[in-house]
Amino acid sequence: MLVLGIESSCDETSVAIVKDGKEVLANVINSQIKIHERFGGVVPEIASRNHVYQISLVFEEAFKIAQIQPEEIDLVAVTQGPGLVGSLLVGVNAAKTFALMYDKPLLAVHHLAGHIYANAIEHDMKFPCIALLVSGGNTELIYMKDHFDFEIIGQTLDDAVGEAYDKVARVVGLPYPGGPHVDRLAHLGKETYVLPRVYLEENSYNFSFSGLKSAVINLVHNAEQRKESIRVEDLCATFQNSVTEVLVHKTLKLAKEKNCDTIIVAGGVSANQGLKERFMQEAKDRFTIYIPSIKYCTDNAAMIAVCGYYQYKKNPKTEDFTLNADPSLPLKSL
Ligand code: KG4
Repeated sequence: MLVLGIESSCDETSVAIVKDGKEVLANVINSQIKIHERFGGVVPEIASRNHVYQISLVFEEAFKIAQIQPEEIDLVAVTQGPGLVGSLLVGVNAAKTFALMYDKPLLAVHHLAGHIYANAIEHDMKFPCIALLVSGGNTELIYMKDHFDFEIIGQTLDDAVGEAYDKVARVVGLPYPGGPHVDRLAHLGKETYVLPRVYLEENSYNFSFSGLKSAVINLVHNAEQRKESIRVEDLCATFQNSVTEVLVHKTLKLAKEKNCDTIIVAGGVSANQGLKERFMQEAKDRFTIYIPSIKYCTDNAAMIAVCGYYQYKKNPKTEDFTLNADPSLPLKSL
């Protein structure tokens, strides 16, 4: 089965062609990072305009790389939400146009389900499992008993973990998106500062990162006022330790409570080396840990195609041409 995947929820225009939910024939990603860098974050209007410029080119390139003709596609899977509405609309309309032109079934995919199913490209999904979803907009602990059975057990009460990374990066003068820079510098430094680990109440699986982020901002501002310099590598190492310790602790606690042997890490922050290392150190003897390769961690259409494949297998309900983008689409079980 050949699935065409389309992703445009934020600032990546991506089109992929995936065979039988495993073999990625093409996964073209046009990133707008360079365009948004000077604004220190994604500007929604500019993002949607650039999706319009890029979408046809990215389509063309994907078909060229995969050496597939449009008529050979069996299913069109597109990110319906959540995300930036103007950005989502470009992908949804491109998907509808393709489906109409070539008379193909059309499937609406949830962006976060896509991140989770990025793991199915390189591994075989095993259930029950715990998914830790960490991105620029989300931080969630999800219990999955089966394919497309999502029970959200914990989530952030304020900032998403990627958002905290990006804000900390900005305050220490690193470019956008800051996560990869903080991660890199953290490996050059030591934990020499004192920052809070926010566990919330004893049995909570929720997260909070705004206090930690504010602690970093205050520390930097106080140092500036005293004309002291900050050891950026050490501050990044301290911040990264605070974040990863809490994420890994809560994920392992939940996996034990639910008797799950498999843990899936998903979303842009799953590219974090410190998080990966901590999971490997603390959990690899007891649990199977799935973390996608870097190219499937951040937004990409291969994960949408793969997710569409499993979604269609579980419930072959397709969409008609009234399908619309939904910027706050909730993650629902099938
Ligand atoms: O999943 P994603 O591509 O977009 C959505 O939010 O949907 O995630 C982007 C986020 C950004 O906040 C970025 O800074 C963060 O993932 N990120 C990282 C790393 N690579 C990307 N955060 C920490 N360490 C990394 N290596």
